Amino acid sequence: MNNQVHEIAANCDQLPQRFIRKRDEEYSNIATADASSPTNIPVIDVSLLASSDSELDKLKSAIINWGCFQAINHGIEASFLDKVREISKLFFNLPAEEKKKCLREEDDVEGYGNDMVFSDQQVLDWTDRLYIAVLPHDQQKLRFWPQNPAHFREVVDEYGSKIELMNEVVLKALARSLKLEENCFLDQYGTTSRLLARFNYYPPCPWSDKVLGLKPHSDGSAVTFLLQDKDVEGLQILKDGQWFGVPIVPNALTINVGDQMEIMSNGIFKSPIHRVLVNSKDQRVTVAMFCMPQTEKDIEPVDGLITDDMPRLYKNVTFSLEFYMKNYQHGTRSIDACKI
Ligand code: OGA
Ligand code: NI
Repeated sequence: MNNQVHEIAANCDQLPQRFIRKRDEEYSNIATADASSPTNIPVIDVSLLASSDSELDKLKSAIINWGCFQAINHGIEASFLDKVREISKLFFNLPAEEKKKCLREEDDVEGYGNDMVFSDQQVLDWTDRLYIAVLPHDQQKLRFWPQNPAHFREVVDEYGSKIELMNEVVLKALARSLKLEENCFLDQYGTTSRLLARFNYYPPCPWSDKVLGLKPHSDGSAVTFLLQDKDVEGLQILKDGQWFGVPIVPNALTINVGDQMEIMSNGIFKSPIHRVLVNSKDQRVTVAMFCMPQTEKDIEPVDGLITDDMPRLYKNVTFSLEFYMKNYQHGTRSIDACKI
């Protein structure tokens, strides 16, 4: 097991070779990428999605053009989001020994740690993370859940229920925005949805321009809900060959679709490639909630989206986490293996 990046950051006077990031051209999942430009990611008022056709159109064009949006008026109280941020920071700022009680085991995805390493060539991410399955409840592996801070589990369970509800709202709205029956995406979830939480900790890095917090990737989820750090930016989205910084919108959640939504929508909604830059002075903590169908369930493009003009682009697939992770670490996209 590698040392955690937190410890490397504290004890190193030279950047270990394995963290030196590749140039954009060396990642096979990026065509071209220029310098980033400041921009505004679309902002969507979630409370209007059930009643306003114009908000629904805005959502559709946000997802078609960006694959993501900033969700405001989503119904989760700002004070509760602060609580989620607080438990995350409390955990990551515990002494190393305490955090290691939740350490990921060699071939498990869940737990606390840094990258799963599949090859010597793999460039390592400048991040430590805690990865846990939140839903379904009976699949929680409590040995990986922090006991400290004491209210960690209670807050994460409550956050999981709130995100599950919002996921339903978003999935229905996405279906309606394409003039489809509103449950057509939800129906592919089976009887339960799966919700994985990833708490990301990016320590400050003296060599911030030489590393990446997260390599370019698209998410394996259907929908991802990202709670950004309140003060420190870092996320960038690739659009039309350019990296765009995703600004912090107070109390918003940054929502993006993942590979499974790209498949279910037969490629209309594109799962966006994104990456994370790190900061030289400040730590950054984010919480990503990945919503997706239960594992036993195949997903496939929705019938109504397959026409003579738009032939079916993807096979029936089940998305395993291990398969996704291997592709991620190799810099390839699991979705490419799902194409017909
Ligand atoms: C992720 C992710 C972005 C961030 O966890 O998949 O893209 O800003 N996180 O932490
Ligand atoms: Ni991501």
